Amino acid sequence: MADLLAAVAEFVADPPAANHSNPPFPQVLVPGSDHPSLEALAAAIRKNKPGLESLLDSSGAILFRGFPVKNAEDFATVVEAFGYKSMGYEAGAAARTYIVGPVFTANELPLEIRIGFHNEMAYLPDYPDVVMFFCEIAPPEGGETGIVQGRTVYDAMAREYPEFVRNLEEKGLVYYNFLAEDEWKEKFGTDDRSQAELKASKLSKKLQWLDDGRVKVYHGPRPAIKQLKENSKTWFNNIGSSDPTIPNLRHLEYGDGTPLPLDALKASLAFMNDHQVPHKWKPGDVMVVNNHAVLHSRHPSKPPRRLLVSMLKTS
Ligand code: FE2
Repeated sequence: MADLLAAVAEFVADPPAANHSNPPFPQVLVPGSDHPSLEALAAAIRKNKPGLESLLDSSGAILFRGFPVKNAEDFATVVEAFGYKSMGYEAGAAARTYIVGPVFTANELPLEIRIGFHNEMAYLPDYPDVVMFFCEIAPPEGGETGIVQGRTVYDAMAREYPEFVRNLEEKGLVYYNFLAEDEWKEKFGTDDRSQAELKASKLSKKLQWLDDGRVKVYHGPRPAIKQLKENSKTWFNNIGSSDPTIPNLRHLEYGDGTPLPLDALKASLAFMNDHQVPHKWKPGDVMVVNNHAVLHSRHPSKPPRRLLVSMLKTS
């Protein structure tokens, strides 16, 4: 760990008080001078990229706190300093608004709704390697971003529910929802089923027409478990989005169409809830998350709360 921090000497590591994991999760980096500037931060990121990437591998999340990052343009400067390729969000499921450069709004679901643990876009064949979050307006109450290490979820579930995990590894997951006839016609902008299928396939979705006029729209099968670099496996899926408090568990099934065991699903959600680090935002915070290794969630909050995000491919 000391070697890693030596590689990022322009930043000062600030051990978080909330947890005592080693390495810290997230690894908090604060300015090394009394007069930090946005330009110096961007230059330090460019200079220390290998050390920061080592931190992203070992900790899974880095929090830059106390730097003068004030708006979307400043955040874009920080994002671009990493030199990664920005992903669009055309195929994603959440409502987001494009802001500037690589920057989008965070999920625009009403703030009182909890968003469960997920790896970003894990239901798609192409997903970001890194997700960056920026807090422009911190909520007065709640609104934490929960983060949890996927390998701890995998280890616990493999120990407690080995058959469930074996099935996930062998069959993968299908994510689906249903659209009524008027809904699919509006969503795909056509009355023609083959045109709708074509548009869906461009968004990595598949369509299954039902006798009652509805269509089942699904992603998958997708892997639900992922192999990490250092020979460990990690939870990598959107199972957590099916929080029992938002009863849509029926929107997941194994890759072969068989149902998932409710007790194991609930146990995985409870484990993530119990082992998360709930990050309480301050304005100017930038959190960089390894999307392969870490799942994130949104706690309900009172308004106002404004988080911006960027989704990035590292290669
Ligand atoms: Fe997300």
